[in-house]
Amino acid sequence: MQPIPDKSPEKIRRMFDAIAPWYDFLNHFFSLGIDRRWRRVAVKQLLNKTTREGSILDVCCGTGDLTLAFLKQIKERKDRKLYGIDFSPEMIRIGLRKIKTYQNNGIPVQFAVGNALSLPFETDCFAIVATAFGLRNVGNTEQGLNEMIRVCKPGGTVAILEFSMPTQPVLSTVYRFYFRSVLPRIGQFLARNQDNAYRYLPESVLTFEEPNELVLKLQHLGVTNLQTQPLTFGIATLIYGTKKIE
Ligand SMILES: C[S@@+](CC[C@H](N)C(=O)[O-])C[C@H]1O[C@@H](n2cnc3c(N)ncnc32)[C@H](O)[C@@H]1O
Repeated sequence: MQPIPDKSPEKIRRMFDAIAPWYDFLNHFFSLGIDRRWRRVAVKQLLNKTTREGSILDVCCGTGDLTLAFLKQIKERKDRKLYGIDFSPEMIRIGLRKIKTYQNNGIPVQFAVGNALSLPFETDCFAIVATAFGLRNVGNTEQGLNEMIRVCKPGGTVAILEFSMPTQPVLSTVYRFYFRSVLPRIGQFLARNQDNAYRYLPESVLTFEEPNELVLKLQHLGVTNLQTQPLTFGIATLIYGTKKIE
């Protein structure tokens, strides 16, 4: 049995603050760069499917890669503004630096330090509320989802991009071995930190809700038209749906 990792906010925040300088490099290294493609595909889908105009919120934005993917793909302004929220000031600091160096298309971007469990925004204000590889780190999944849905406009899109387990048995075995045995050793060696961040990563992925469980939770919380899109043999999954219009 995989132990359930400690997700106390202070521990998680301190861990991401500590690995922030290595985060982007290790992300792209361990995924062979595929994580960029996942965000790109997700953003394309969300922009295509969302009919509501208005701002976009990236919850647990970290170093801003999902926000950047939106920034690069938004063609029509449709009143778009981009917001990113994360409780790790060090991740945000790197995100701000990246956004500044990107020659943007006039779409305003704002990053702020804040908690996904109590989003500092009014109810019904975003056309798209999305999170990439963030939700499984949030101490209380239901409350995190509730907050994402609360700040989304009725008729807007709520989306989660997260690691998942490939369903193909051989691939699943290889993936588990890589995740449990290879990744923690290399990650911990490179990004040495006392919180064992690269042991936490596989533990958090292997014990997190599966896509169908997240779909049920979203349905229960009033999200309709739910779609799941497995990416790269199901190593990651995009889940998205529409906030019900009352
Ligand atoms: C794995 S990173 C993902 C970063 C980014 N979204 C990406 O696509 O690379 C997870 C992020 O979630 C943030 N996080 C975890 N729990 C949070 C919470 N309760 N409130 C805000 N941010 C949180 C962490 O600080 C970290 O930056």
